[in-house]
Amino acid sequence: MNEAYELHAKFVPSRKILMATIGTDIAKAKDLLERGELVAIPTETVYGLAANGLQANAVLQIFEVKQRPSFDPLIMHVADKNSINLLAKDIPPSVTSLVEDKWPGPLTLVLNKKPLVPDVVTSGLDTVAIRLPNHPLSLELLAQLDFPLAAPSANPFGYVSPTNAQHVDDQLGSHIQYILDGGPCIVGVESTIVDLTNSSPVVLRLGAVTSEQLVEHLGHVEINTHSTSNPSAPGMLSSHYSPSKKLLLGDLRTLYECHIDKNPVVICFKDRLAGVEDGRQIVLSEKGDISEAARNLFAALRQLDDLDAELVIAEEVPNQGIGLAINDRLKRASANN
Ligand code: TXA
Ligand code: MG
Repeated sequence: MNEAYELHAKFVPSRKILMATIGTDIAKAKDLLERGELVAIPTETVYGLAANGLQANAVLQIFEVKQRPSFDPLIMHVADKNSINLLAKDIPPSVTSLVEDKWPGPLTLVLNKKPLVPDVVTSGLDTVAIRLPNHPLSLELLAQLDFPLAAPSANPFGYVSPTNAQHVDDQLGSHIQYILDGGPCIVGVESTIVDLTNSSPVVLRLGAVTSEQLVEHLGHVEINTHSTSNPSAPGMLSSHYSPSKKLLLGDLRTLYECHIDKNPVVICFKDRLAGVEDGRQIVLSEKGDISEAARNLFAALRQLDDLDAELVIAEEVPNQGIGLAINDRLKRASANN
């Protein structure tokens, strides 16, 4: 890692206590970002905590507010497909059709970076993660800015990602001035990340864009999302989506019978568990729709914070499409238990 960067990353200025305003004022968001301040922005996946991605001092505040370790790099959010050429080099030809098909959308590409990208964004790596998000407010904002936005999910490090403006306000409202409110996120889990810097493309995080869809453009992909031991995806710690309660994943009936003395709260995909009161059950999708389950997942995990429960039991959703991403997040939420 670059030495100057290491020194820089250790500098943590003290912050004032703020009170965020929630609104839809793009001009206000633009003004704050141009002044090097942080703004929470909506995307189709989860809300992001954004800063001018070309200004190291602005980006450093993201790490401070999130309490994010400096080794965990950020995603650059760009205004259009061409911006990829400003930030990345050695772009494989297959990217053209992939981006044509999936951008704007829940897909992040890891590519070799150009010198323009500050080391603080990439945690000193030679690669940069880039995404064109699909949300009308943020697309409008990005179009009005003359820089990309570095933005991780707008939650304290290690906690569940926010899928509406209130989630952001609940945890980061006293650290930022403005939350651009784009309503509830329509996808609900973070973008698929694919690393294109090696001869074989590698999926580093599962999301709404499936591996089958990637294969259509890239020919083949490897999947390596087990990354506590994978330095190429530094942020994908196995216990990354920790709700405040202990969570066990498996067959609901069996888990319930084993832990009945703890009166666990139940997270079900579609059907409630017979014999458990409704107030202690969270259903991800009454109609068994996997996309709806994805939209509701993180709000459900947050709901647990307010429930009087020592233990939560959850079941996997069908392992297809975005279901793989949901199950991945549930496994991470249950890690260490
Ligand atoms: O859907 C999303 O991607 C959301 C919205 C806000 O765009 N963003 C998001 O950011 O989930 P974050 O920071 O929570 O997760 C980004 C992940 C981290 O696990 C990080 O390690 C990985 O992307 N990442 C970033 N740059 C990378 C790079 N150059 N190589 C490998 N992994 C990288
Ligand atoms: Mg995150």
